[in-house]
Amino acid sequence: MPDAPPIPAVQTYGLSRSFGNLTALSALDLTVNKGDLFGFIGSNGAGKTTTLRILATFLAPSAGRALVLGHDVVSAADEVRHVIGYMPDFFGVYKDMEVTEYLDFFGACYKIPSAKREKTVSDVLELVGLSEKKGALIGALSRGMQQRLGLARVLIHDPQLLLLDEPASGLDPRARIEMMAILQELQRMGKTIIISSHILRELETLCNRVAIIERGQLIYSGPVSGVRDQMATGVVMWVRVSTDTEQAAELLRRCPEIQQVETVDGRLKVTLINHEADRTVVAEALVKGGARILELQEDEVGLEEVFLRVTRGDTQ
Ligand SMILES: Nc1ncnc2c1ncn2[C@@H]1O[C@H](COP(=O)(O)OP(=O)(O)O)[C@@H](O)[C@H]1O
Ligand SMILES: [Mg+2]
Repeated sequence: MPDAPPIPAVQTYGLSRSFGNLTALSALDLTVNKGDLFGFIGSNGAGKTTTLRILATFLAPSAGRALVLGHDVVSAADEVRHVIGYMPDFFGVYKDMEVTEYLDFFGACYKIPSAKREKTVSDVLELVGLSEKKGALIGALSRGMQQRLGLARVLIHDPQLLLLDEPASGLDPRARIEMMAILQELQRMGKTIIISSHILRELETLCNRVAIIERGQLIYSGPVSGVRDQMATGVVMWVRVSTDTEQAAELLRRCPEIQQVETVDGRLKVTLINHEADRTVVAEALVKGGARILELQEDEVGLEEVFLRVTRGDTQ
């Protein structure tokens, strides 16, 4: 039987946000489907938090629109707030409060009747593996536990869509794995989850789909496997020689590290086979073959470099 067509949970159309002269988000077109565990990836300053805050109705877009489960984040902000659980990248913890008190407080904010609240609090604590810590002071919990408590808080009103801003950052590997396991469980329960990170590797086994943004622009959206396909494209170098250009092109075509050589406006566009390819082969082949190099440069930071950065988890 063919799969049912996906139902969108989040749709953005030309979504943009500026802060003064700075364009933090530029014409983002994004679709996240119901049931997705969706990774939102980009280096620091890429625009992840800005996007999530707009989706969570905390920040107005400068242009474009966003729909969350069919509700417009600007004109139907109240409806949106009911169906989302937003966990900011940094949230104050009430260190002197007990775990259950804290959750009960947020349950009351969401107008969950007091008769029902105890069970709700107990259920979300169970979900995030904190049942044992009911009476503990928040300040006494480990960082991983505090993050899981933050997750429990956004689950209290049983939202359909979770917006989690770098929930695993600053966690040790074990706490991170625990967090990821909870997210998988939530996905199995039918929640749609958007989780941001500046490290692609952190999310690649967890998420079924990812989007990569850089400087406010979407550069990839699709299955995780597609990122690797994109990365397989090579590095581009531009070369100008004072000797015969065609001859130089021939010299380069003989190198195994070079995938393609084209002439563009009197310059040679040289594509290396992959990122690991040794850049020096270009100059070496030319010099050995008697060509004289006037200019040799690697392409401006392109998609490939960006992919590489987010894969390694580098920040800007
Ligand atoms: N309230 C704000 N005022 C001014 N600039 C901001 C504000 N919020 C974010 N920015 C800028 O917008 C860009 C995107 O930031 P952000 O969305 O926080 O990125 P990310 O979460 O991917 O690290 C950055 O250059 C950041 O400095
Ligand atoms: Mg951020």
